[in-house]
Amino acid sequence: MTQRTTSGKKRTWEVFAPGRINLIGEHIDYQGGWVLPGAISLGQWIKATEIDGPSIQVKSPLGTWTYASSAQLCTSDPKDMPSAFFKGVWSSFQKRHPLSSVGLEIEISGNLPLGAGLSASASLSAGLGQILQLVHHSPLSEEDLIQIAYETERQYVGTQCGYMDPYAVVKSKENHLLLLNNSDLSTQHIPCDLGPYQLVLFHTKVAHELSNSPYNKRRASVERAWNLLKQLKPKDSVIEALPYLPMEVLEQHRGKLSETDYPLARFTLDEQLRVENAVNAINAKEYSTLGALLSQSHQGLSELYQVSCPELDFMAEWSQRQTGVLGARMMGGGFGGCTLNLIHKDHMADWTLEALETYLQAYGITGEVYRVDLFDGICPGK
Ligand code: GLA
Repeated sequence: MTQRTTSGKKRTWEVFAPGRINLIGEHIDYQGGWVLPGAISLGQWIKATEIDGPSIQVKSPLGTWTYASSAQLCTSDPKDMPSAFFKGVWSSFQKRHPLSSVGLEIEISGNLPLGAGLSASASLSAGLGQILQLVHHSPLSEEDLIQIAYETERQYVGTQCGYMDPYAVVKSKENHLLLLNNSDLSTQHIPCDLGPYQLVLFHTKVAHELSNSPYNKRRASVERAWNLLKQLKPKDSVIEALPYLPMEVLEQHRGKLSETDYPLARFTLDEQLRVENAVNAINAKEYSTLGALLSQSHQGLSELYQVSCPELDFMAEWSQRQTGVLGARMMGGGFGGCTLNLIHKDHMADWTLEALETYLQAYGITGEVYRVDLFDGICPGK
């Protein structure tokens, strides 16, 4: 979904960078587990126009940022979130390809809600990386683009996230989910035919910003658990990451983990199994099984991993009780953002009205509902 055109003498480049959902496999990407995300049709349009002089101007609905040149952008001292992304993308790109002095006016627009857990950040980083690639005619691969987004998030924004978001934003395929093995970064496109069911997002509008949330603490906790358990696993075992540890080994050594770390480790093993079962359920068109897995994932995220919030719990549990709903859960990093719901198409209209009304009554907030259409990821070089 990228285009390159010329208008008069000024060159312009345009990229569509999608957001993503994650069907299941939450908080196990940074532990080497399997996740099942997919890009969606909501996203960001990034348009760059060549301008006279070397300056870089970025305009988005959040404001305008101006830098004297690409070189100055790389040495800037970011004071807010978008500028940390810009510095991250330009600096990470520069490690792979020299930056030219071409001046650019960049406009960001689109329909991807920010702070909704739909990976607006990886979408922006990968989309801007793609723009730089087009501007510089650089032969960067999909993996380079993924690395640019990954480095931006971890080194410049400060979230110790995993690979799920940049992989989903870059490598997804229309009507498919992306099965990503985070131990070896291999991927498989899983056709996603949900029959009479539809995936629907409910955005609670509770702000979700991972770099300021306990996300990094959760990660430190499971790393601590794995450092202890890996010394206790059977000597001949080839298991390289916590998600693959046999449940009996975890339970046998449960008492050696702290009260904080054990529930997170338990969730990790449960969630990994749920991803495997979800892939089987999709392939076998066993939609009720799939729905049940989503609801179980919510319970684990809320009670064991503790990354939900009252508004997400309320809407997931409300949805699970509605006619035509097979399952519902919070989605993404948590602490706000969206629930993901598997709903029979015949019940979607009623569900939408009732969800909005119920949430408004309970929290005084007008939520938002989005139908999920699985979409292509960014296609480098096109
Ligand atoms: C955020 C992170 C991802 C992943 C999810 C939780 O979206 O960026 O890497 O950890 O949270 O599954």
